[in-house]
Amino acid sequence: MYKVALNFADGKTLFCTAPPNGILLDAALKSGIKIPLDCREGVCATCQGRCESGSYTQDYVDEEALSEQDLAERKVLSCQTRVLSDSSFYFDFDSTLCGGEGTALITSTVKEVIQVSDSTAILKVATNDDEPVLNYLPGQYARLKVPGTGHSRSYSFAGAPGGRVLEFLVRLLPSGVMTDYVRDRCKAGDIIEMEAPLGAFYLRHIDRPVVMMAGGTGLSAFLGMLDQLAERGGSGFPVHLFYGVRTEQDLCELSRIEAYKEKIEGFAFTPVLSDANEKWDGLKGFIPAHLSKYETLEMPYDIYMCGPPPMVESIKNWHTEKHLTSVRMYFEKFTESNN
Ligand code: FES
Repeated sequence: MYKVALNFADGKTLFCTAPPNGILLDAALKSGIKIPLDCREGVCATCQGRCESGSYTQDYVDEEALSEQDLAERKVLSCQTRVLSDSSFYFDFDSTLCGGEGTALITSTVKEVIQVSDSTAILKVATNDDEPVLNYLPGQYARLKVPGTGHSRSYSFAGAPGGRVLEFLVRLLPSGVMTDYVRDRCKAGDIIEMEAPLGAFYLRHIDRPVVMMAGGTGLSAFLGMLDQLAERGGSGFPVHLFYGVRTEQDLCELSRIEAYKEKIEGFAFTPVLSDANEKWDGLKGFIPAHLSKYETLEMPYDIYMCGPPPMVESIKNWHTEKHLTSVRMYFEKFTESNN
């Protein structure tokens, strides 16, 4: 057996053993270390870490999950990593995420569904009174079983934890498993089962300015984080939310976002439209094209990104090209099929 050390962002180290060629994730789970996971197929990158020492190989790694650059930096997907020696791995989240109650199967009831922009609906569900209130970190997500289909789709929580009502932003596509349900069949009282909480995207302790980049319904994760920050009155550091969508009609929850300016000291908001009409006097194009204007942001800062993979990659690349190595980056990528 090989000895494996797992180091976490909160400075804690946990240990497990792995048989030669054993899968890192399985070895950790066997020792009760619940590394956040989702697909188990090398696609979602939820279980990612970085090898600090030792040898390993990886089975399947989807190019959307880890780039060439990531692989060169010895980043790994725990569910695909085979341990070949004594080794140590670093995970960029707190060890507390790997213990506790873990992921649960939850039954919820639809309260309402509201279309809030041309391309977005808010789905509100309530968990059953006889189940404990779901504990999650804003930024994490749930995998919802779409009623009447054999399919599931993942959505970030669009609110702070603590209550029985859970909200999710659903992107409305011309057609899709969840879109068709939400648009044509969803009604109050429907039962939706879900698996939650999932993911390792959450707001870390704030000790420097924070930049949030939302692409489309990636806004959901930030609504949860900002609700929580608003409850605390802010963090003492500026928080700047960029929100990129296609047209003005795709923007949603603007009054809620405006209200954060009253509740969170140092909160700024910048919407960016990729297909704006001539009346729009805000920023146009894609978020990365405008970042150089904000280089004056007090450095160093933490950046949180939630949106389609090309948005996340271009923002990461922009920072690499500018050698902004002191910026700490956290991200959740999702693909349109998630809706
Ligand atoms: S759980 Fe999805 S890549 Fe490992």
